Amino acid sequence: MDLKAEVEALRQRLEELNHAYYVLDSPRASDGEYDELFRRLERLEHEHPEFASLTSPTQKVGAAPLSAFASVKHREPMLSLANALNDDDIRDFHARILKLLGDDMDVAYSFEPKIDGIGLGLTYEHGELTLAATRGDGTKGEDITANARTISSIPLRLKNEGYPIPDFIEIRGEVFTTTHAFEEFNSKRTEEEGRYANPRNFTGGSLRQLDSRITAARPLDAVFYACGEAKGLEVRSQEELIRAFQSWGLKVATPYFKIIGTVEGLIAAHHELEDARDQVPYEIDGTVLKVNDFEQRQILGSRSRNPRWAIACKFKSRQASTTLLDIEISVGRTGALTPVAVLEPVPLGGVTVGSASLHNVDEIARLGVKKGDRVLVERAGDVIPKVVKVLTEERDGSEIEFQMPKECPACGTPVVKEADEVVMRCTNASCPAQLRGTVAHFVSKNALDIDGLGEKLVAQLVDAGLVKRLDDIFRLQYDDVVALERMGKTSTENLLTAIDTAKTTTLPRVFFGLGIRHVGEHVAEVVAQSLGSLGALLDATEDDLVAIHEVGEKAAESIVAFVANEQNKLVIKALLDLGLNATCEAQSTGGPLAGMTFVITGTLPTLSRKDAENLIKKHGGKPVSSVSKKTSFLLAGEKAGSKLKKAESLGVEIIDESQIYSMVGDAPQ
Ligand code: IVH
Repeated sequence: MDLKAEVEALRQRLEELNHAYYVLDSPRASDGEYDELFRRLERLEHEHPEFASLTSPTQKVGAAPLSAFASVKHREPMLSLANALNDDDIRDFHARILKLLGDDMDVAYSFEPKIDGIGLGLTYEHGELTLAATRGDGTKGEDITANARTISSIPLRLKNEGYPIPDFIEIRGEVFTTTHAFEEFNSKRTEEEGRYANPRNFTGGSLRQLDSRITAARPLDAVFYACGEAKGLEVRSQEELIRAFQSWGLKVATPYFKIIGTVEGLIAAHHELEDARDQVPYEIDGTVLKVNDFEQRQILGSRSRNPRWAIACKFKSRQASTTLLDIEISVGRTGALTPVAVLEPVPLGGVTVGSASLHNVDEIARLGVKKGDRVLVERAGDVIPKVVKVLTEERDGSEIEFQMPKECPACGTPVVKEADEVVMRCTNASCPAQLRGTVAHFVSKNALDIDGLGEKLVAQLVDAGLVKRLDDIFRLQYDDVVALERMGKTSTENLLTAIDTAKTTTLPRVFFGLGIRHVGEHVAEVVAQSLGSLGALLDATEDDLVAIHEVGEKAAESIVAFVANEQNKLVIKALLDLGLNATCEAQSTGGPLAGMTFVITGTLPTLSRKDAENLIKKHGGKPVSSVSKKTSFLLAGEKAGSKLKKAESLGVEIIDESQIYSMVGDAPQ
């Protein structure tokens, strides 16, 4: 055999072994045999650089770090799915399809798990992987090719053993981490390195590494379930598509994938998988039903952001029962005292839950919860767990009634409860707990986003007296930080670099980070766009602020009161002196709802009118009050009246709350 042929034979053999191990989950060689072949190939490639190939199995180990991810526009938008929240929603989905296709049509559906991972599109040209992009906002994603190439179950070239390989195809699926691999990885991480909250965050974090060698060391996996643009693809149904994927060496959602012909069959399968959820090796948050036949899909088409031929059926939130050991009080940055349930740790949806917020005294009264009670806790997606119910029948009389403290547990100042509020507050402006909260908010993800500065380290900095005001963060010295417990040389250096980088953050982040009451991210954004600089905040009057579109009186009042406080004024001036060079990004005119108008009518299941308006505005749409021919959508809830009739008569498209969520790619909380 000549050398070139040997190199190719080795590559094919290694690809087969990878496929057997990572895709089929049935190893065909020992580690020793694999390593030997791998090393021989590496040696031949090293000695004969003329045989180099980007698709060689030796090229799956990661490459030199990037400085940033390039943005990629998807050739075909990556749509999201409308949600079905109960059985009737599934029946309605089927009824809508029959109405559009004709009652006498036979419609079969593919039934698939909805994998709770990170959406990904892989482009293969003539069978070779040329691009991997995250879903992003559905229109644009990030080019993470270097990272995707390191994922064991993603082939660098497709196997040509079954369905003909198209000249061009974008294959879509989900990157995820099995619950087992996630737990194993997390349990080995030190506290200093930080642990990931759940498998999905872990997957996202691992995919977003600029150094693909780090990604290569993470146990990521991927399954595929759809395709974007394709040239020369000869399949006519989802069933065939999935078979084609398999023949090309791609992993699919076996053994859960099924074709089902009746709506009651779909509902039964959905509940069956919901009950077996904990036996699925990866996190799933529902099932996805898709019309199997591609010709029927064509007839059904899509509307705005969702195809009419598919739906995501959500599972109910996971619940578990455990013992409430104690109720602790945490003091937030506004001085609010929040009771937190300390729970006997219980596994729930891939993570161990040890605490849950109880929100306020009224919530404790509503639940009637006592210390020592058995309680039912629930966790929906990434959301903080909550106590949903007390299992009163399990009481034995030893439970203890809880009383809110009369003094702040952090500083001893008597707490007050304002007449129109449910929360109790510590009124001491220099309360250390408040300072910790203020600082933690300033550096948090949506504010200055200082990497490595989590709540624990903030508490250490505050307790050591190194940070007494927000601007002190920028004055931290190496020697002081390195002397703190659990801080090493590298972590200190990284922290100081991250702090320095934060000086060039954006203005909306600074405004939000200041933690002014009633100034959320959106208000911070519009105020920043209008004022243009941090300094301008010092001179802004209530009139100036109210004149800004979307800034209400409450927010304006609160901003002016914040700046009028001498201490706050000093902080802002100090931040400016320290060179906090925040800039304001150009106004975004984009968003998935850009150019669309919405009329809201009736009672929506979860959103108030105001929240619905805000959601629409946040994503670039415009809420208007009356229906006309020009209205893009009528968002209708229960008891919708004349507006609904008018919209129907004018042919304005009518959507419900779950559809607006899907259009903006947001999940209802
Ligand atoms: S199909 C046009 N199938 O759920 C249909 N999506 O909102 C495109 N997902 O962002 C999606 N499992 O990342 C489809 N079996 C599955 C899925 C799935 C998870 C994700 C996907 C998408 C979101 C849908």
